[in-house]
Amino acid sequence: MSEIVPSLLSADFSILAEEVARMEEAGAKRLHLDVMDGHFVPNLSFGNPVVKSLRNKSDLHFEVHLMVQNPADRIDEFLKAGADTLIFHVEADGDDIELIKRIKTGGAEAGISVKPGTPLSSISNLISEIDLLLVMTVEPGFGGQEMIKSALQKVNEVKRMNGTEHLLVEVDGGINLETVREAAEVGTDLIVSGSTIFHSSDPSEMFKTLSRKADLDNNGH
Ligand code: DX5
Ligand code: ZN
Repeated sequence: MSEIVPSLLSADFSILAEEVARMEEAGAKRLHLDVMDGHFVPNLSFGNPVVKSLRNKSDLHFEVHLMVQNPADRIDEFLKAGADTLIFHVEADGDDIELIKRIKTGGAEAGISVKPGTPLSSISNLISEIDLLLVMTVEPGFGGQEMIKSALQKVNEVKRMNGTEHLLVEVDGGINLETVREAAEVGTDLIVSGSTIFHSSDPSEMFKTLSRKADLDNNGH
């Protein structure tokens, strides 16, 4: 069964703590926090003070998705802010193995993200070192985009590779009431959803509906 992970990017930023509490009550176990530097992606979002403030209000597993050009400059501050998993992009600058080591030494789980056009071959040497692979199913930078379905094949591909039993595979971007089922069917462990949850009239109910649809034993209703 795939687990739905709410992405705060589309939440109401004036009541963030309430939005998080609402997801926790609805049954979420993890929270996806998108950090953008206006350089690696054209958009800006929020930095470590927001993560730190929310950390005091929530026991959810915080996964921080760094869409920044130079993750090496940012790792320490997000570890300190309370990230449980820290995800950086393989297309960004820096020595990947070194970054993974720093994240793990800092007490967090390490994740790598790949853009839709980046093949798995670019991370095959890193798979044994990481805890999570984040497969982008939109170009990173904005919520509310349409899913690039061809990217879902990477989930299939990585799940068939040897030595990936330990790995959590997550998809991010364009999840809605239709696409959630396809994301679950390729064997995804974690499915990020931002705008579908937070732009709905009842985010808690939408989280539960997506969770039901992602449960392949449940016929998806
Ligand atoms: C996009 C972000 C996503 C975003 C997904 O760059 O990485 O996490 O919140 O938003 P939706 O679910 O609206 O596509
Ligand atoms: Zn994300």
